[in-house]
Amino acid sequence: MNMIKDIQQEILKLKKEKDICILAHSYEAHEILEIADYAGDSYALSVKAKEVDAKTVIMCGVRFMAETVKILSPEKQVILATPEAGCEMADMMNRAMIEKVKAKHPDYTVVAYVNTTAELKAICDVCVTSSSAVNVVKNIENDKILFIPDNNLGTFVKRLLPEKDIMLLDGCCPIHASVTPEEVIRAKVAHPDALILIHPECRPDVAGMADFVGSTADIMNFAKNSERKEFIIGTEISIAEHLQYECPDKRFYPLSAKLICKNMRLTTLVDVLDCCKGIGGEEIVLDNETITSAKKCIDEMIRLNHE
Ligand code: 13P
Ligand code: SF4
Repeated sequence: MNMIKDIQQEILKLKKEKDICILAHSYEAHEILEIADYAGDSYALSVKAKEVDAKTVIMCGVRFMAETVKILSPEKQVILATPEAGCEMADMMNRAMIEKVKAKHPDYTVVAYVNTTAELKAICDVCVTSSSAVNVVKNIENDKILFIPDNNLGTFVKRLLPEKDIMLLDGCCPIHASVTPEEVIRAKVAHPDALILIHPECRPDVAGMADFVGSTADIMNFAKNSERKEFIIGTEISIAEHLQYECPDKRFYPLSAKLICKNMRLTTLVDVLDCCKGIGGEEIVLDNETITSAKKCIDEMIRLNHE
């Protein structure tokens, strides 16, 4: 008996019967992506969340991603498949901390990386994801920007937009930020013909050694469209695996064995099946005020993400 295929079949049957849409972040496991209606990076998931017309959405990812779906589609029942799946970066900053900084710098536009809680987005002006950050910040009229919480992504944006006055705080993704320049050198020595593709949540000295820096989707598209055959992948380890399935004629090497987001690894097919049965996951509940204010912040990202 093939347990994985059996569970997947049951999920597919239930989701059709009950009008459920399954969204998954690209960091999720291969067998989860196989049963998802849509898989993508944070930006693509935000855009998709607005378009979904199913009654219920199950989010396979971390809490802020499920909150984003609820904010953009408040009339839907939104279930986080694994309630324990948080994001260490999103949990680093809270509303009280940012209210204090805002009070000191009232003339700054507050830009929140999507990896923030809904209650924090509610007091920020514009949201960004790693794939939209540079473009969105460039298109903000005000040149004074307070960028939270990721210092590394903020430094990347700052380097590309020197005309902006970008103030940073000291949040980060501990997983991406753990990679060191020595690991890049080791990977390059082990695979001298490979191109190095790195997520901007990595440290600037690490990202500075890359052949290409970009979000999850940008890294995947770059590797798929490149004529080159070997790539060192500097983001969550699942991306090297997914790319390997999609491009069997190429070779993908994880930059570091430390690049494992344990929160993204928590969701199993059984969690998703339990959600479909109505006995698992956690329904996301947000008050109307939070939804209305946080939605303005996300809508601003979509409005400003033009050339
Ligand atoms: P993306 O914006 O590339 O999807 O990144 C989300 C994330 O949590 C990366 O660690
Ligand atoms: Fe959060 Fe880092 Fe995991 Fe992304 S990889 S979800 S930023 S803890």
